[in-house]
Amino acid sequence: KIKGALFDLDGVIVDTAKYHYLAWKWLADQWGFEFTESDNERLKGVSRTRSLEIVLEIGGIVLDEEEKQRKAEEKNERYLQYIRQMDESELLPGAKQYLLQLRERGVRIALGSASKNASFILGKVGIAELFDAVIDGTKVSKAKPDPEVFLAGCRELGLDPEDCVVFEDAEAGIAAAIAAGIYVVGIGRQDILGEADLVIGGLEELVAAG
Ligand code: G6P
Ligand code: MG
Repeated sequence: KIKGALFDLDGVIVDTAKYHYLAWKWLADQWGFEFTESDNERLKGVSRTRSLEIVLEIGGIVLDEEEKQRKAEEKNERYLQYIRQMDESELLPGAKQYLLQLRERGVRIALGSASKNASFILGKVGIAELFDAVIDGTKVSKAKPDPEVFLAGCRELGLDPEDCVVFEDAEAGIAAAIAAGIYVVGIGRQDILGEADLVIGGLEELVAAG
């Protein structure tokens, strides 16, 4: 029986993956190269710094550390312009209902996200109080696929990994959950997330299943 549930944020609870994509694409446009949605799969679940390195690699662009830092900040500024406008209409279908269902059953809930904007977003969409623990990009040093974020989540919930489940939309996040020894449900496409123990289209499917 499951005692704890750990949720990724971007692409699982809120539809922010599109804003991350638009903000990176905005940088790529300035540099004059194409940045596609399939390129963007590689950035899902990956830290801001590492994402920038991947974008630069795709564009064949070399920057020094100082310029990298400035570009990462510019990307975040652009991203913030999008997420400042967010409200609860940007919760993905079933997300809030499923969190409420789990709470009713006594399941403890943690956020496990690489984002440094996670707490801000939870506040914007009005679900911060549904989480017993929030592990985000300000609390961990090793990015997914390292298991740190999910192991820290289990620890903060006071639960063993084998009593928990992870919900993830990113390959890197699924790898992190597997490395942590936690059962993982992929949210998205089977052809991308095949490593997960189970793949579903969205949390609304679990709400309907009851
Ligand atoms: C999540 C997203 C990534 C994003 C990362 C860092 O893992 O899936 O696309 O790059 O968080 O987010 P941040 O808000 O700190 O730039
Ligand atoms: Mg995600």
